[in-house]
Amino acid sequence: MRIGILTAGGDCPGINATIRGVCKTAIHHYGMEVTGIHSGFQGLLTKEVEEVTDESLSGLLSMGGTILGTSREKPFKRGGVVTDVDKPTLIARNVEELGLDCLVCIGGNGTQKTAARLAEMGLNIVSVPKTIDNDIWGTDYCFGFDSAVSIATDAIDRLHSTASAHKRVMVIEVMGHKAGWIALHAGMAGGGDVILIPEIGYDIHRIGDTILQRLKRGKPYSIVVVAEGIRTDGRKRAAEYIAQEIEYETGIETRETVLGYIQRGGAPTPYDRNLATRMGGHATELVARGETGRMVALRGGEMTSVPLSEVAGRLKAVTEDNDLVVQGRRMGICFG
Ligand code: F6P
Repeated sequence: MRIGILTAGGDCPGINATIRGVCKTAIHHYGMEVTGIHSGFQGLLTKEVEEVTDESLSGLLSMGGTILGTSREKPFKRGGVVTDVDKPTLIARNVEELGLDCLVCIGGNGTQKTAARLAEMGLNIVSVPKTIDNDIWGTDYCFGFDSAVSIATDAIDRLHSTASAHKRVMVIEVMGHKAGWIALHAGMAGGGDVILIPEIGYDIHRIGDTILQRLKRGKPYSIVVVAEGIRTDGRKRAAEYIAQEIEYETGIETRETVLGYIQRGGAPTPYDRNLATRMGGHATELVARGETGRMVALRGGEMTSVPLSEVAGRLKAVTEDNDLVVQGRRMGICFG
């Protein structure tokens, strides 16, 4: 059996650990052959591929990025490197010409959607959920999330001392696309005083009040953690907008930090390495059992899988009954 493996969408810590998990299990346990596809779905259009051998899998566990490269190529949309052809048809033809019995697609929401549509066309697909945003429906966690939360928490920790020294309000913007998972988890772990996420609306007067009440209680500085996806005036980044509004509301000097791509780079945490390894191995097991059209998932600590048709087009959002929100509110943390 020969499997093709690709990584698509934004990178995150743990992709290489997943590639290692998929390929080592395939080669050593199942005696399969593996073709590495470069630059996500783009490589399936251009047939940019390489043979994956045991040697090419050395040193991957702790390595950030992806050795296969990635792209945001969406074969069911026009544009990209290949034009004037029906891209899904070209992919199906190339998969056959490359002799791939199954494709393992590692990616975020966009990738799951593409994988589901390719599966509908009759291609054998198994996918692995990958994103720092943790917003893929059907799995409790995605690898990459824990690493991003760890980096963001460290950044928030560091803002405490400078905020305290200058008696300022510090606003930090973290990633998460349309979901607030990173802001919620890093905000709580970093002791944020105000945490703003897209799933919960906010009132700027209430935020101002929270900060002024803290001042009255002898706490002259505050940490505000905002998710990039919250509502703004449409022109400014979340951090810039909220910082400006807070300064106006409170009269307290306010500064902003946008953490950006630091959250996605570098080595995965031990948790993400092990999650990636488990997900990778489980993906190969699904391939071996012929259980295709499915995404590997972590549910209640157990490794399982869900149909791609159920995952595609859905988003896993934070809900108000999330325990971190409930406990945070009881402790006086403002969620907007
Ligand atoms: O999905 C991961 C993510 O890092 C989001 O948090 C962020 O909004 C987006 O990707 C950034 O995308 P790009 O890499 O295209 O700038």
